[in-house]
Amino acid sequence: EKIQVTIDGPAGAGKSSVSKILAQRLGYVYIDTGAMYRTLTYSAIKEKVDFSDIDSIIKLLTSIEINFGLDQETGTQKVFCNDQDVTDLIRSPEVNQKVSIIAAILEVRNIMVLRQREIAQNNNVVMDGRDIGTVVLPNAKYKFYLTASLEERAKRRAKELEAKGYKIDLEKLIVEIKTRDNMDTQREYSPLKPASDAIIIDSSKINLEQVIGSIINYIKE
Ligand code: C5P
Repeated sequence: EKIQVTIDGPAGAGKSSVSKILAQRLGYVYIDTGAMYRTLTYSAIKEKVDFSDIDSIIKLLTSIEINFGLDQETGTQKVFCNDQDVTDLIRSPEVNQKVSIIAAILEVRNIMVLRQREIAQNNNVVMDGRDIGTVVLPNAKYKFYLTASLEERAKRRAKELEAKGYKIDLEKLIVEIKTRDNMDTQREYSPLKPASDAIIIDSSKINLEQVIGSIINYIKE
């Protein structure tokens, strides 16, 4: 039996930072499911596929292999689309704006969920996303829902993006995150919400180390 830890929550709540470190400490595989939706979005933009043409989007998805790997030098996680390193490309403002359109397509979600379950069947995982505790791994042993105020999430995202060289307008970023949250919570299929058995952690006033500490405490109990 593999052990599954799920971390869901809205954009910028710190899911990936928390999940990465948590996975390292537990010795589990970290799976960033948002990166999977982002990779498909990036490919669709690159291949100029019409976002309303579901058949073509699915055809594209079945033609790409999305893989995670470790950068040997830095130890950071890399995302590959077939053999291309798309780690930075999938974080562009254009992908941010369009990913929720792709993620709202039921047929896309069905395929992603199968791929995600397959990984979790073969590895102990920390998996982060929007529907991991509710849909992907409903029987996971440990479920967490990470949240924070919109302002705090936008500030954190701004810091991340600025470190990557993007110029950020905080007001615009707040609107963008809010729009994405609304699309994610209001969509028909697998909307963002905490699983009924998830532990909810609000990280507005606590730091990364404290969030990780409290998650590890729950897991040890
Ligand atoms: O986590 P991240 O912000 O990278 O996710 C990007 C987008 O992918 C989300 O805004 C959401 O639309 C979609 N997503 C999803 N289900 C997941 C993970 C991400 O719908 N499990």
